[in-house]
Amino acid sequence: MIRLAVLGHPVGHSRSPAMHNAALAALGLGSEWRYEAIKVAPGGFEARVRAMPGEGFAGANVTVPHKGAALALADELSGVAREVGAANTLIFAGGEIRAENTDADGLLNALPASPAGRRALVLGAGGAGRAAVWALVREGAEVEVWNRTELRSRHLCDELGGRPASDPAQGDYELIVNTTAVGLRGEDPFEQLPLDPAGFAPGQTVVDMVYGVEQTPLLAAAGKAGASVVDGIEVLVQQGALSLRLWTGCEAPVEVMRSAARA
Ligand code: ATR
Repeated sequence: MIRLAVLGHPVGHSRSPAMHNAALAALGLGSEWRYEAIKVAPGGFEARVRAMPGEGFAGANVTVPHKGAALALADELSGVAREVGAANTLIFAGGEIRAENTDADGLLNALPASPAGRRALVLGAGGAGRAAVWALVREGAEVEVWNRTELRSRHLCDELGGRPASDPAQGDYELIVNTTAVGLRGEDPFEQLPLDPAGFAPGQTVVDMVYGVEQTPLLAAAGKAGASVVDGIEVLVQQGALSLRLWTGCEAPVEVMRSAARA
């Protein structure tokens, strides 16, 4: 068996095993490859990863809270991983660990249209926020960044581009991307983020990286106002499709992955 895994803490809720195993089966690789979820506490991350090549792993996805640690331990970094400052994908080959970031292009692939020339607001300045800002700036969007801790968004913009926004005017943006953790534990996004449920408009695209069983309150309000919505599962599918191609060299069956992730 060639093994793949997602490493996170927590990781039990992850849709990645179902999504990737369905994709591997559809590619005819189901009897050779298997994808699993492995819960790894922060203190144990490096030792866990270093043992993986010897246990038959060809690669791994890395999620909260390990994306920075994944970058730090790699022998080789892709340009995107280095610039974003986080890795969500590891590839084990030739005795080396290579770090990639597919979150950035995954977000772009999840959007219904190119963000070039569009006014975009990114909420959050963690790893997911950095990938979003990097991708949108590279595509030529006019990016503003809001973060609860303003120092962090200022720092992010100094490094990656975009402008910090301390009091963003929700109606001014054609694209709004929530990369914060707000909503993961049932928090009210309209209490924690500078957004008003009645402030969305048709013509806007709203992305919420948070996903759960039901549509998030953020996307429900945006959809009700006539905005286009992109949920965290779609972003997960798109980053996963890029990771799968890096490991297997095969074009990913995106529709199969989407159905499995949503099942
Ligand atoms: P990730 O790598 O998934 O982005 P992270 O680095 O822990 O995770 O970042 C989490 C993001 O969610 C940060 O932007 C954080 O804001 P702070 O920098 O101020 O901590 C944001 N966040 C988490 N809980 C929040 C809350 N209740 N209200 C607003 N922002 C929140």
